[in-house]
Amino acid sequence: MKVLVTGGAGFIGSHLVEALLSGGHQVVTIDDLSAGSERVFFGEASRDGHIFVQGKVEDRRLMEELMQSVDLVVHLAAVLGVKTCVENPLKVIEGNLDGTRNVLELALANQVKVVFASTSEIYGKSEQLPYKEDSDRVLGSTFKNRWCYATAKALEEHLCVGYAGRGLAVTIARYFNAYGPRAASSPYGNVIPKFITAALRGEPIPVYGDGTQSRCFTYIDDTIRGTLLSMEARHNGEVFNIGSNQSVTIMQLAQKIKILTGSDSPIVRIPYREALGEHYEDTPNRIPDLTKSSRVLGFSPSVELEEGLLRTIAWYRARQEDE
Ligand SMILES: NC(=O)c1ccc[n+]([C@@H]2O[C@H](COP(=O)([O-])OP(=O)(O)OC[C@H]3O[C@@H](n4cnc5c(N)ncnc54)[C@H](O)[C@@H]3O)[C@@H](O)[C@H]2O)c1
Repeated sequence: MKVLVTGGAGFIGSHLVEALLSGGHQVVTIDDLSAGSERVFFGEASRDGHIFVQGKVEDRRLMEELMQSVDLVVHLAAVLGVKTCVENPLKVIEGNLDGTRNVLELALANQVKVVFASTSEIYGKSEQLPYKEDSDRVLGSTFKNRWCYATAKALEEHLCVGYAGRGLAVTIARYFNAYGPRAASSPYGNVIPKFITAALRGEPIPVYGDGTQSRCFTYIDDTIRGTLLSMEARHNGEVFNIGSNQSVTIMQLAQKIKILTGSDSPIVRIPYREALGEHYEDTPNRIPDLTKSSRVLGFSPSVELEEGLLRTIAWYRARQEDE
């Protein structure tokens, strides 16, 4: 199969491209490199059967050309990161909606199946755990920029379902906090790379809030397997939770990383307001119900948190030694 991966130079995208190439597929990647790293991408995923195109998913003419030659598109390109949401909500809203609309319209016109990357963020701060695909969403006020990403992704899901009604083959994968080698460790990136980088450098490990908030972190291999299974899904316009259901508090995570890295770093609590400003509010817990993805896709996570952390730490340690 020939697969177009949007955002393929990013964290999840670069792992997906590798998996697709290993599975014998041909891959076309489009990425504007606004967040993806050219160095990582070309260093580790450049092979026969792969074409990389630097460009934007909003570029209608370019996307039309690419879409004509592929059988399926996995649409990962997005603007994300909690700090980006609170600081620049317009960038998040426009950077997500405009490109997705383009992808869906052109995929329908060319009869190309779409797998759309959504997020557990869309459940918001609902306390009805675990989250089922059809659970209610509970979001905060629009005065809190933090919710703009969840809102944009939810609207994109509505677009997917709308286009499914017009005959587009589309599957929505709702990822729960993916982590692993190559995840971004910038202030805009996610918590695991941030903690590991701090621990390896002997710097304070920053826990926002009181650390009792919990998440289900999903090792990248499981995220990729869920994505590959979503590519094969036959049920049109359906949503699937793709994640681990092993819950850990952020304080426990910091302690685990400190132990696994053998670090002397102190763990420091930073109030949310100081770290992320007044436009932030946290979601206390987030756990997926995997009944549907297990029953329909045959998905179940297989990498335990400790094992995934050890693999991720090994990657960051090796990278630190190279620098
Ligand atoms: N990482 C997670 O834990 C997680 C969780 C839930 C959902 N997701 C979703 O999965 C997808 C991939 O996330 P990721 O963690 O790999 O993020 P990432 O930032 O590493 O990758 C996104 C890629 O998209 C590219 N990009 C951004 N805007 C673009 C545009 N207009 N045109 C072309 N390329 C563009 C970036 O350069 C980057 O390489 C996103 O849609 C994200 O919302 C990720």
